[in-house]
Amino acid sequence: MTLAKPRLTVIDTDPGIDDAIGILLALASPGFSIAGITTVAGNIGIETTMRNAGRLLAFANREDIPVFRGAAAPLSRVGPEPLNLHGEDGIGGVALPEPARLPESRHAVEWLADFLMEQPAGMVDVLALGPLTNLARLIVERPEAARRIGRIIAMGGAIHEHGNVGPRSEFNLWADPDAAAVAVASGLSLVLVPLDVTRRVRATREFVQTLAADGKPMAVMVGSLIESYFEAATNRESRPLHDPCVMLYAIAPELFRIEELRLSVDTGSGEMAGALTISPDGSPVQVALGVNGSEALDLLAQCLTAVSTNASIE
Ligand code: BDR
Ligand code: CA
Repeated sequence: MTLAKPRLTVIDTDPGIDDAIGILLALASPGFSIAGITTVAGNIGIETTMRNAGRLLAFANREDIPVFRGAAAPLSRVGPEPLNLHGEDGIGGVALPEPARLPESRHAVEWLADFLMEQPAGMVDVLALGPLTNLARLIVERPEAARRIGRIIAMGGAIHEHGNVGPRSEFNLWADPDAAAVAVASGLSLVLVPLDVTRRVRATREFVQTLAADGKPMAVMVGSLIESYFEAATNRESRPLHDPCVMLYAIAPELFRIEELRLSVDTGSGEMAGALTISPDGSPVQVALGVNGSEALDLLAQCLTAVSTNASIE
């Protein structure tokens, strides 16, 4: 692991089963100092993503971390229907405690902008696990604050892989292509973690059993979350861990192969919405195109099983 000192981090997320795993991984890893969680509608509506973020923090006994309500809909189009894959509650029906702390009253974008202005420039990273609506609003409405972000690491897109909602479209970019286009063209330090990589970090049932057998609440909880992912997708031998790859990249970039690509985002409608194109006119983005999947999985297990928390399972 190369993150020697904890990085000040904001997680922008739409939990979501794999978001939940990513959040628990970040809480379990000493590499992150999480200043807040900003929520966005995506896998499911904003009320549910916000509630799920609070429930995860309650489970981990980390209600010192504030949760903010962000965008309830994409910048300029109708949002997606809830994804069946994540269940009616967005996290596969896994039992989590209700939060004691209420979400903050300030809007996520407003808080994030002010927080960035209070911190030294370059010191705050944003880990983006959902549609990029909050980030795009920050870039457009508070550009001076956005320029102070250290780096954005975002799960999204498909480069050489086929998409998961359209032939070349991945869910997070497809859900708000206009926001993705703003982020890609922003000139901010952006690392994109696309399906090309996340489909190679796959949890098997054996992996779930290893986590369950460990007995530590974080590991057991992540095992249950992956198990519910399996239930939603019958007859699969393994499931991709999309969003946790963002945290894994932040912790151990040496496990990933990065290339700079010039990208543009299709902002049309229909099945090509959110598709990425490599072209000389595109904006330069650091893109993760390769990963050592088995070492990434080992690292995930290591972080979850090493952690000693007060987390408890309901
Ligand atoms: C992305 O879409 C969502 O369903 C997941 O949470 C992940 O962020 C994968 O395409
Ligand atoms: Ca997500």
